[in-house]
Amino acid sequence: MLDQLNALEQEGLAQLAAVADSESLEAWRVKHLGRNAQLAELMTGLGALPAAEKPLAGKRANEVKRALEAAFAEKAEGLRQAELAQAAERDAVDVTLPGRPAPAGRLHPNTVVLRRLYAVFADMGFQIYRSGDVETDLMNFELLNFPKDHPARDMQDSFYTNEPNVVLRTHTSPGQIHAMRASAPNPVRAILPGWCYRYEQITARSEVQFLQIEGIVVGPGIRMSDLKGTLTDMARRLLGPDVRTRFRADYFPFTEPSAEMDVECFVCGGKGCSVCKQSGWLEILGCGMVHPTVLRNGGYDPDQVSGFAFGMGPQRILMLSHRITDIRQFLQNDLRFLEQF
Ligand code: DAH
Repeated sequence: MLDQLNALEQEGLAQLAAVADSESLEAWRVKHLGRNAQLAELMTGLGALPAAEKPLAGKRANEVKRALEAAFAEKAEGLRQAELAQAAERDAVDVTLPGRPAPAGRLHPNTVVLRRLYAVFADMGFQIYRSGDVETDLMNFELLNFPKDHPARDMQDSFYTNEPNVVLRTHTSPGQIHAMRASAPNPVRAILPGWCYRYEQITARSEVQFLQIEGIVVGPGIRMSDLKGTLTDMARRLLGPDVRTRFRADYFPFTEPSAEMDVECFVCGGKGCSVCKQSGWLEILGCGMVHPTVLRNGGYDPDQVSGFAFGMGPQRILMLSHRITDIRQFLQNDLRFLEQF
């Protein structure tokens, strides 16, 4: 019995030394320490031994079992470490490889300039008010004091729809009427951004679809000096605290008096360059005191309140400041253009 146990121990340890992976280790465990292992069988047979041999054989059997178990545990740990090390090597990341660039999306320049203007006007207490791209002739023209045969209609060639008297808005000014009607008789201070459409030859300087931002302020005692102060402040917030502005008389049917605002050329600082055509000034918006007829059409009593309005083309401001020479680029979705912003 003792000889058999010694032989089992030696054989077990010898075979364990040859085990090189966890699969054969498991096979070894089943063979040497499993329920049907020879050792287990011998141990079951202990009971049948003569009483004199039993204690010694029992002790030896337990020793062999513990020795095999200990050797097994050590081997298992060794294999685990080796397999870990192998995996670490196999799955190693070469941190010296150059990275793959992740292309970043970005905002369209239209969105960028609109958001800047929203921020400037929001700081000045303006609400953003939206109205639709499709308007009636009544809203787009008549209520803004353009009668049917008014020559100023020729300034804005319209896209008519199949529906009689329904047009794509040629400017954001009809939004003035919507904003006033939504607010009257209370004061209103709002900007109205949006797309406008004009039936024109598409050239580097004119697109059939372009952005405008309209502004409308109505309340008791609003004066021309409020218009000048507000728009000059807006220009300074947008272009810098020292930018100079000037107002020139102009004509729009829906304002009286009407003006255009110029800012000192932000390309040359007013010295004269090709962008400002050597004048030192850039025209950036039209404005004026809301015509009494338009106030009335908006639901106000022109004897009680007065107001001013303005309209600007954000894309024009972008074109001037970034020296973009072709307005068509804003809608072409050419990445070579868009990636420059
Ligand atoms: N709607 C005019 C245009 O598209 C721009 C404009 C001028 C808007 C004067 C105004 C304004 O509100 O007061 O040419």
